[in-house]
Amino acid sequence: MAKFAIMGHGTLGSGLAEVARVNKDEIAARLGEAVEVKYILDIRDFPDSPDADKFIKDFAIIENDPEVEVVVECIGGTKVAQEFTRRALQAGKHVVTANKELVATFGKDLLAIAAEKNVNYLFEASVGGAIPLLRPLFQCMAGNQIEEIAGILNGTTNYILTRMVQDGASFADALKEAQAKGYAEADPTADVEGIDAGRKICILANLAWGKEVAPSKVSMTGISAIDLKDVDIAASAGYKVKLLGHALRLDGGKVAAYVAPHLVSEKMLLASVDDVFNACMIRGNAADEVMFYGRGAGKPTASALMGDVIDAIQHREKRRELGWSESADLADSALLPMKWYLRGDFTAADAKAVCGEVEEIAPNAVITAAMSEIDAKAVAEKLSAAAMLRVL
Ligand code: HSE
Repeated sequence: MAKFAIMGHGTLGSGLAEVARVNKDEIAARLGEAVEVKYILDIRDFPDSPDADKFIKDFAIIENDPEVEVVVECIGGTKVAQEFTRRALQAGKHVVTANKELVATFGKDLLAIAAEKNVNYLFEASVGGAIPLLRPLFQCMAGNQIEEIAGILNGTTNYILTRMVQDGASFADALKEAQAKGYAEADPTADVEGIDAGRKICILANLAWGKEVAPSKVSMTGISAIDLKDVDIAASAGYKVKLLGHALRLDGGKVAAYVAPHLVSEKMLLASVDDVFNACMIRGNAADEVMFYGRGAGKPTASALMGDVIDAIQHREKRRELGWSESADLADSALLPMKWYLRGDFTAADAKAVCGEVEEIAPNAVITAAMSEIDAKAVAEKLSAAAMLRVL
């Protein structure tokens, strides 16, 4: 019998306790050993929970109980979550988390402690919610040189964009719904401004290229400044507006990573990813493009947490080699060539005079040829453009 503890009883923590309870027979059969939640740590009381007898308020009970092999951190943030993660690893326990902020910001150090203590620090649930994504990247695609990663990595913003476009909901109402469904972060600014997706593209880049891409060095733009006018023009021309995380390895080994809203052609799979769903394309030099799709936030994320608990137990003797080293050599994402959507009080002929060939997609909107963000900003300024968005 393997025992684990869950820290935090919000959407993910309670979801994980439920998965462990409901699927206990299947899990035991697959693992060859029963797995049981021994403690649930939360400052609140849950007298009506089927696990009511497992609630504790003192982390030291988990830390000092040799029976607890795995600790699942569902607290969030980087303060208490980091302290308890460090202490659990130091106490020789495997730690599983969905905390992308903690993994993206302090993952290198935490993985170093895990290596020193010969335990696992696993975070499949930190990117893409329920989607199996990190393990396929670092395990199944280990034989590739990873060239590019592009994905819809935030469920809240994808949900908001979908509700606004399909149902005419207001931004504020759509955000409230996403919060009620347990998709949004405690402070939804992280979702709306692209910071959550930024942390996730950093984790993907770290695993893809083995070197740290710090969130503080990545340009992140969210959806708060998007004008519905542009969403409508894009739709009439066969594009959807999607918030994408994008990371590339450039010739010479530099890595570029950023988050920004893009026009995505409806011919591309990513364009049909709606609601809370996430999708991520990974291109390797052996596999070419592979695509992962599923629910990116909320209770289904417990599936990925449970998978990591099982994996930690399976690797209790020989830990999974996982980690990244010193800082990646980063390229300025503003220099990456890409096509741009520009809208304003100008004609296609005006735009052509400023930047050469353009595609007119509406009487007052064009798509340019590929150019850097720096050049596109100069063009937008000359045309006094009212809106400017990347095109994938
Ligand atoms: N707030 C996050 C999202 C939760 O909406 O994607 C899952 O990481």
